Order: sequence, then structure tokens, then C-alpha cells
Amino acid sequence: MTLKKTLFTLALLSAMTAAATEVKSPNGNIVLNFRVEQGRPLYSVTYKGRDVILPSHLGLELAKDKHASKGLKETDLMDGFTLHDEHTATFDETWQPVWGETRDIRNHYVEYLAELYQPAWQRRMLLRFRVYDDGVGFRYEFPQQKQLNYFLIKEERTEFAMAGDHTAWWLPGDYDTQEQETQETRLSEIRGRFQKAVNWGNSSVAVFSPTGVQTSLQMKTQDGLYINLHEAACLDYATMHLELVDNETRALTTQLEGSSNRYTPNPGPSPYPLPKPYTFVSHLTPDATGLKGCMQTPCETPWRTIIVSDDARDMLASNLILNLNEPCKLDDTSWIHPTKYCGVWWEMIVGKSNWHYTDDQPSVKLDSFDYRKAKPHGRHAANNEKVKRYIDFAAKNGLDQVLVEGWNIGWEDWANLWKRDVFDFQTPYPDFDLKMLNDYAHSKGVKLLMHHETSSSTQNYERHLEDAFQLMNRYGYDAVKTGYVGDIIPRGDHHYSQSMNNHYLHVIREAAKHHIMVNAHEATRPTGLCRTYPNLVGNESARGTEYEAFGGSNPNHTCILPFTRLQGGPMDYTPGIFETKLSTWSDNTSWARITIAGSLALYLTMYSPLQMAADLPEHYERYDDAFQFIRDVACDWDESIYLEAEPARYITVARKAKGTDNWFLGGKCNEDGHQSTVRLDFLDKGRKYLCTIYADAKDAHYETNPKAYTITRRTVTSKDVLKLREAPGGGVAVSLIAQ
Ligand code: NOJ
Ligand code: CA
Repeated sequence: MTLKKTLFTLALLSAMTAAATEVKSPNGNIVLNFRVEQGRPLYSVTYKGRDVILPSHLGLELAKDKHASKGLKETDLMDGFTLHDEHTATFDETWQPVWGETRDIRNHYVEYLAELYQPAWQRRMLLRFRVYDDGVGFRYEFPQQKQLNYFLIKEERTEFAMAGDHTAWWLPGDYDTQEQETQETRLSEIRGRFQKAVNWGNSSVAVFSPTGVQTSLQMKTQDGLYINLHEAACLDYATMHLELVDNETRALTTQLEGSSNRYTPNPGPSPYPLPKPYTFVSHLTPDATGLKGCMQTPCETPWRTIIVSDDARDMLASNLILNLNEPCKLDDTSWIHPTKYCGVWWEMIVGKSNWHYTDDQPSVKLDSFDYRKAKPHGRHAANNEKVKRYIDFAAKNGLDQVLVEGWNIGWEDWANLWKRDVFDFQTPYPDFDLKMLNDYAHSKGVKLLMHHETSSSTQNYERHLEDAFQLMNRYGYDAVKTGYVGDIIPRGDHHYSQSMNNHYLHVIREAAKHHIMVNAHEATRPTGLCRTYPNLVGNESARGTEYEAFGGSNPNHTCILPFTRLQGGPMDYTPGIFETKLSTWSDNTSWARITIAGSLALYLTMYSPLQMAADLPEHYERYDDAFQFIRDVACDWDESIYLEAEPARYITVARKAKGTDNWFLGGKCNEDGHQSTVRLDFLDKGRKYLCTIYADAKDAHYETNPKAYTITRRTVTSKDVLKLREAPGGGVAVSLIAQ
């Protein structure tokens, strides 16, 4: 690791100056401007001389605290500031992630720190900016001080003023779910599309404004600049959404008509003037009381991030969000490992079998109901025989783990009933022999992957957590998939609030003590915390493959997720569906909008150290030649090269498997199909590689002919060029094995 840090203080500017400070990124492409104007901090950003963020205000509104003695606590941190001091520093280091897309990550930026002072209240607030060649991160910092010790946030008012009516790929802003289809519209069209964009069918929905959107938000300007807004290191703070000011906005956060925002009153209009149209203003997720943050100094907000480039590939290759997170906090990471797994899962999602054990019991009290006396309905999937079958399949095909859902009692009445004591995470159903199955798996070199569905009953989960992790240690599990289906219990809180974000982190930290890796579903979307806690190996936090059984997702869905959801960390997308027409093997009439070759491509284009082969063993056995790619593909990398990319259209990436000379390449496209010409000049010169191409057949199509693929083999060198064709909704997967 190389580390170079220089620090120098700029000349102290006069306290009331409105002259802007200009800070350039290391290569000069990105320029940040900062000034305090009429008491309000203002920043703007350009890229190669083009506007990215027009002058935008920064500040926070504070809430009244009933315990405040005639204090200043509720006076906003919005205006009345002077610029007290400024510092800049450059920083350049290269660090190695425990797992990742590349072996080395360079963290190179120019830092600018503005020390602001509110003389009327004698309070200090710092703004720290980091200016990278691929974007900017900034955050608010609150040093400990007499007049600002404990405070409550009513709303953060960070503005991101856009320079035009950009194209945006967005999800409706929602305090509880990200399981929606991405919308592609101009900024001015968000309001008109909003109601249609909401996934009203999700078991927990709370939208807040007809122009509210989630991050990470990907945009493209009309002259071809790619801009992404998100956040990094969201710790002890609420998840941020963005609210767009458009020509119809009269106040921020207008009450939605027919809103499903069932519990939380909106904070009401801000007393501060509205910014001009095409400005996004931050909107934090409230807790059960409507509050957005309870702070104790010294503290800081997460980083607000702006990634920008004129080349879409740079958006995918950016490490800005990881870099803004703290280095790894775990002393020993030797137990953390990339994992390929299959699971007793898809057949339940599809509806062919069930998580629960008996139909005779409308409601279960866990501590008194005796399942051994219950009549099984005969479709309980997590039974000894079936689990052994999956273990055998994993062992035979080199998969590391087998996820088993529905192994523990409580699934008879698990969701959306406000049931607090819903699971104990200890007691297996009578037909699941915990010890025998773990012993059997271990004897074959496979581990079981634990499942903890919490039903969002978070206090219940926290009460059982230590015992649950001890059980995992006892039986030899080292990874858990958690889940937060339904509204949060205790009632009124939201999945993305400060208190819930603290809950997810608590689980990650406790898991680390037990050497357990975590893959959290329905939790808040990631912000790069996996750098600090690399046992957070996955999250769902978006619309995953399960939706292919709930009506399907648009074929372009996986061509936008890497630009948006994956910016903050890997997704447990659960790819690998081969039998895409579910009605051919179940009563489910839904179908996966993808070809078999497209399914293979996802192992490359949807980067994750945790990859599932989600389909049923018998389906893979039917297409064993195609399954070979899933057996072979790595999920940890020394190098990644994004060869082609355009949001929601196509992504082509080549990756070098960690510690080997082998490369894998994946290309995924939307419903239009795609042609790629790939120069293999990234291969070692003079070396031969066995190249196997898994491609869509000429007549393949995600709807009419999804299972038509070809497999071709040839020897190639770095001088070769591959012409690859992807069918509508399809893709291509290539292995390049060094000879
Ligand atoms: C939703 C998760 O995303 C899915 O993977 C899981 O099977 C169910 N919840 C049940 O926990
Ligand atoms: Ca889910």
C-alpha cells in the first residue's frame, strides 16, 4: 500500500467573503466551487468544463426537542453562516479489498474542508468535500461543542441542481422498498409517471411525494454526460431519497393523493425558498415518530456522492463509493470467502412447494404448539430427502453452499400479521434434521447456508440473535441470508430509517464476532459499508429474480441495476434461471424475461462475491453443457474491464479470476439484442487460451425461444477478435482458460 498525504491550509479568507474557492480533481477534469453567499453554503461541480451541479445550497433543518431548555437546539443549520477557515489536502493510496471486482483499488482525491460558523448561535459545522477524477463526495460534520451537542433532524436540505431536463433511470422514492421496475423518463416526466411506477403490491410500501425518487439515481444529459447521485457510508443515519423540484412543485414533500404513506405525517413545507426546477433536494427516511435523525456530536452525515463521466463504462468501474467508506474494521478476515450456492428456494417462490409445514393451524404460538402432532400438508420443501438431493447436487458441481429456507418453525403465519414472536431461529420443523443434514453436507465438502426471515419483527430478531448465531457456530454454518418482509414491527418505523439502519449494522457486527457472513434481503440499499465490514457479502434491496415468478421484470432490468443498485455494493440477484417458462413445470403462469445465455451472462455483469445458481437441480441436469459455465465461473476477481456499457441497453465486461490467469466475459442486453466486437488484447501476450462461447442461437428470443443456445470452442490469443451476438433479452458468456 502506498500512502501519501499532504496537508496545507489556505490563507484565511475574510469571514464574510462570497468569493468562491475552486478545488480541482487530481487530473483537473472535475472542478468543485464552494462559497458562502448571504449566510448559506453553496457548491457547484463541473466536468471538463460542463455543468454537472449548478450552484446548490447545503443545510439541515432541525426539529424541536421537548427536552430542550430554552436552548438553540431547534435553530436550523441552514443560514447565518460565515466561512471561518478552509483547508485542502491531497490523498493517494492503493488498498486491497477482501473480495471485489479488482485486486487493488486506488483512492486518490483532493480534499477540501470548509469550517463554517454561525456567530448568532456560536455553532460550528464543517463541510468536507473529496474531489476525485470520477466524481465528488461531501458530508456535513458536527464537532462536539457547547451549543450543539444533542440535536434532532427535521430534514436535510442538500440540493443537487441539475443543468437540464436529463434522462433519468429512477425508482419511486419509498421508505420501505426498492423492489420496483426502473423508470426511464426525462426529469420533467417523473411526476406524470409516478403513480404507475409504484409497486403497490409489495408487502411494505410508503411513498412520500410524486417527485420523490430513490438513489442511486442514474442520469444522462442530452449531450451525453452520465451523472449518478447516491450516498456512501450511511452509518447511524437515515437513508436519503431525493425530491425533485419541477414546475408544479409548490412546497417540498406535498402530500400524495391516495398515498400509502400510512403512518408518517409529512414534515410539511420548508420555510426556506424553493430552489429552481430540476433541483433535487435530499429527503431522509423518517422513523416511527416522523423524525429523521437523532444526533450526538461529534458526528457526521453519510457522504453525498456525485459520480460523473462522458463514458458510461466509467460509471460501472468507479470505486468512489467504496473509497469514501472507512477501511476494514475486522482484524481477521480469513473466514470470509466468495460463495457459489444453490438452494431449496426457487420452487417455493414459484409456488410448487412451501416454507410452512401444516395447513391445519391458522395461527401458531411458538412456545406452546407441538409440530410433531401437526398434520403435514406434504409440500414442505425443507425436508431431509430434498435437502440431501440439493447437497448432492452442490457437491457434484462444485457449489460451496446450499441455502435452505423454511427449515425453522413459524412459517404458518409469518407475514404481515403484526406478529411479534414470529420465529425463534432455533427450532427446526420435524422433517428437517439439523444435525444430520449439516453432517451430511460437511461430509461432502458442502455447507448449509442459514436463513433468518425476520418478518421485520426486529426486536424479536435482536432478542434471539446471539442464540441464533451460536446455533450456527455449533452446526457449522458460516453465512446467513436475513430477510425483512412486511412493515417494520414495532409498527410505524420504516425499513430505511436511522433506527433500522442501526439494526442492520448491529446484525453485521454481531455476525462478524461469530465469523458469519451476511446477505440481507429487503434491508436498506447498500452504501459501500462492505469495505468496512466485508462480512456483508450481499444484499437484495432491489427487484431480484423472485419477481420473474411474480409477473416478470423488464429484460432491460439487469442492464440498469449495475448503474444504480450495484453502486453501493453487491446484490444477491439469484440468477441462473434455465426453465424460464414456469408453467412448463408448475402452476405459475409467470415467466423469466431472459434467455439461457443471458442467464449465464449475469454471473459477470451483476458482480457479487455471492452467486446463486437459483434454478432446480433437475433443470440444470437437462442443460448440463450450459451449466458447465456456472461450474467454471469465478466470483472473485483480480481485474475487471468494462468493454461496453449504456444504461438499460447493454453491458459487456471481462474479468480475470482471482489468483489465476483465466478470464471470463459476459455481455447482457435489453429487448433490442446487441452485437459486440471484442478485442482480446487484455489477454497475456503470446499465451494461448481455450475459449468457450455460450451464445444465443440465431433464432433465440427471450419470449419465443429462450432456450436456444450454442456452445463453441476454439483456441485464441490476445490478437483475436470475437464477434458476439446477443438475442433480444439475451446475452453471451465466455470462458478463456489459460493453456
Ligand atoms: C423475500 C426474499 O427476497 C426471498 O428471497 C425469500 O425467499 C422470502 N422473502 C422469504 O423469506
Ligand atoms: Ca425480496
